[in-house]
Amino acid sequence: MPNPAQVLGQPLTLPCGAVLANRIMKSATSEALGDRDHGAGPGLPVLYRTLAQGGAGLIVTGNVMVDHRQLGEPGNVVVVDETRLDALARWAVAGTSGAGQLWVQINHPGRQVPKMLFQDPVGPSAVPFAPAMQRFFATPRALAEAEIADIVRRFGEAARIAKKAGFTGVQIHGAHGYLVSQFLSPHTNRRTDPWGGAIQNRMRFLLEIYAAIRDAVGDAFPVGVKLNSADFQFKGFSEDDAVIVCRALEKEGVDLIEISGGSYESPAMTGRKAPEKVRAREAYFLDFARRVRREIACPLALTGGFRTAEGMARAVESGDVDLTGLARSLCVDPDMPKKILAGEPYESPVRPIRTGVKALDNAAMLEVAWYGLQLSRMARGKKPHPRENPWIGLAKVLGKNGFSAFRRKREK
Ligand SMILES: Cc1cc2nc3c(=O)[nH]c(=O)nc-3n(C[C@H](O)[C@H](O)[C@H](O)COP(=O)(O)O)c2cc1C
Repeated sequence: MPNPAQVLGQPLTLPCGAVLANRIMKSATSEALGDRDHGAGPGLPVLYRTLAQGGAGLIVTGNVMVDHRQLGEPGNVVVVDETRLDALARWAVAGTSGAGQLWVQINHPGRQVPKMLFQDPVGPSAVPFAPAMQRFFATPRALAEAEIADIVRRFGEAARIAKKAGFTGVQIHGAHGYLVSQFLSPHTNRRTDPWGGAIQNRMRFLLEIYAAIRDAVGDAFPVGVKLNSADFQFKGFSEDDAVIVCRALEKEGVDLIEISGGSYESPAMTGRKAPEKVRAREAYFLDFARRVRREIACPLALTGGFRTAEGMARAVESGDVDLTGLARSLCVDPDMPKKILAGEPYESPVRPIRTGVKALDNAAMLEVAWYGLQLSRMARGKKPHPRENPWIGLAKVLGKNGFSAFRRKREK
């Protein structure tokens, strides 16, 4: 068995020349800690100082949106202009106070905008949600070409501002059923123009966003993409599609592809649907990562299910991936990377969050809400509470989001 501290402690040089100090990455976890105007709220520097001291070589922020109307959750930070650059800069200073890089994850929710936040979501095509989810999510309208061009521009502008604020890289959120992955998936993208049809057309939106960002930040600045291995939908985005997208991204010079999977309708990213054998070996999407590794040389990160130092070291030592991503584990123990790198035998305290009510327990949102609460605790300078009762957690989230939904929002 490889020595986890040695394997995971190796630096990694990205194609742009930037160097990550080790092979542990904090994957994006939406904090919902934006202020009233969706600037970076004061809790973010507190939280990110803690995460930075935790020792990960790369920290990716929770998703930051590019339009004030199009939010994934109440409390999202939105970056459209430089009016709140000072707050972003404070976040960047705190998040780079450790040895790690700090990248902003840039996102547009597309149709995954909860109805309570906005009733006119957009998407590649007007494809409704599965019936059980239609109470929460409206059917989107199909974007016009000029609107697509505007969103591409917004991603580039958000990246430019992030760089100016002091973040050391950016990641395009191309996974989990948000707008980029809606374009990639034939389930949600039924367009017959050059943005839909064959995968070469469906990936055009992602490649144009990548080009706009590269143009804005230059060649020496890290740009990564989080991508689904598949979206686990009937006639959806397949692993074959994903391999083609990875090849295209490598050709364009992407610095890191982070592999995940699923969407709100089929939440594979939390491992709920993974067979026991896959959960036991930890990494939910490892088989797909191995397949991509045979096709491309670009740095690969894998996220979803890592719980032990040994499991993470095995994935890196085998050469299947270069970086191991952690989300829920760091919400309950932000010092996990430091402990692993110090050679401590380590197993994450992450456990399934269950209320006992099947409908609630099967929804990925319960886990996201509960772990989000742990992030809020850290943002108030407290320690996480790994045993917090799920019902109390749920009540707190409903209280907070019920209130946020009535906040006044900026127009664009
Ligand atoms: C509270 C919370 C918020 C999340 N927010 C995001 C996000 O903003 N962007 C994203 O790409 N993934 C997000 N995720 C998914 C994680 O990055 C990760 O893919 C998933 O939790 C699986 O990794 P894990 O098993 O280490 O938790 C979130 C997960 C949690 C628990």
